[in-house]
Amino acid sequence: MAPVAVSQPTDILSTKLDKLSLSGSKQPDISYHPDEAKWKARTARRLAEDPSLLDTPLPTGFPALLESPLVWEGKDWKDESQWTYNLNDSQLEEIDGALKHFHSLNVPQGRINQSTFPLPTLGPILRDLSRELYSGRGFFVLRTLPVDDYSREDIILIYAGVSSYIGSLRGVQDRDAGVLAHIKDLTETHPAKAIGAPAYTTDKQVFHTDAGDVISLFALETAAEGGTSRISSSWRVYNELVKTRPDLIKTLSEPWTHDTYGGDPPFRNRPLLFSEEDKIIIQYARRIFTGFLGLPRSQEIPPITEAQAEALDAIHFLAEKYNLGLNFQKGDIQYINNLSIFHARDAFTDTAEKKRHLLRLWLRDEDHAWKLPKPLEEPWQRLYYTAKEDEHRFPQQPEIRSASKGKGGAAEGGKYV
Ligand SMILES: [Fe+2]
Repeated sequence: MAPVAVSQPTDILSTKLDKLSLSGSKQPDISYHPDEAKWKARTARRLAEDPSLLDTPLPTGFPALLESPLVWEGKDWKDESQWTYNLNDSQLEEIDGALKHFHSLNVPQGRINQSTFPLPTLGPILRDLSRELYSGRGFFVLRTLPVDDYSREDIILIYAGVSSYIGSLRGVQDRDAGVLAHIKDLTETHPAKAIGAPAYTTDKQVFHTDAGDVISLFALETAAEGGTSRISSSWRVYNELVKTRPDLIKTLSEPWTHDTYGGDPPFRNRPLLFSEEDKIIIQYARRIFTGFLGLPRSQEIPPITEAQAEALDAIHFLAEKYNLGLNFQKGDIQYINNLSIFHARDAFTDTAEKKRHLLRLWLRDEDHAWKLPKPLEEPWQRLYYTAKEDEHRFPQQPEIRSASKGKGGAAEGGKYV
């Protein structure tokens, strides 16, 4: 947004100009799908207008360089055996035994945890892998669960039981304590206006984070073509921005207007980037600032700024530059540290026989968890500490999350989590 030119306004004039400025504010020319040419043009324009941006000091408490196993680039990894843990036959038998034990208890599904789903030999290995998420490279793939050998209900229980060793807390993702989400193209059964997130389409998903500490995705089926799952170290992206665009670090560390898409309140303000103890934490989803398909950015809330639009693109294109594509197979579970790793996926094509279908859990492990910045405490409380275990709901079939419904699709408001 171009600043309103004014010299020494009086209070009255200032008020009028504030109104004029607000009514004249408009959303920058940016959409969900990043446009490299527009990004480069915006960068050139902003730096031409103010070359001193490059001299912006880092905000207080933000490190000049992150050094950690969490700082990596896709090209650093040579072979998937570096991040893939292969389950052997005896471990799969142990998982099968744990499922039978859980059934014998005859308790609600939400009670599935380390004590009700015993894995005496695999359990300690999974606990080590959980530590790897929080203080190692930040991701791994567990390969492979025999999806076709189990009913939908049982494979979901196995997924939840195994995952309880990675993070004992499950995050609520949807209304009525839904702790399991389905990621699947629903455009054949739902009108476009009902869909507000790319998770329910075959569209490309740009680099972003979800909510919560750890995201887990479990492939019930992969796409006939495309759909590669991609991850990228936000700590690597951070180091690059510090070196090349410290002004964008400042922009990211200041409050942004998050659209709640008709929620109450209609928007929330918080930064996207935090420095807490010796950790950098980033939490953002581009669609909250640009809208997507049936859920356009709300008109009545403040638009984002030109600096914020540039920062969104800078994050995306740097994440893309350093990304690692995961060879996600049917029956694989991937776990990633959502506080330090972006994720994305390529567009894909389904066929009648092969339709991409993932399950998702948002996990947290209190033994390994990082200290959270203040603005994330309340959303984390809602995610992990509000619903009781017995209330946890594991939808067996895909449904569109309230927060991801298009405005034309449902009367209920989007609750941002
Ligand atoms: Fe996501």
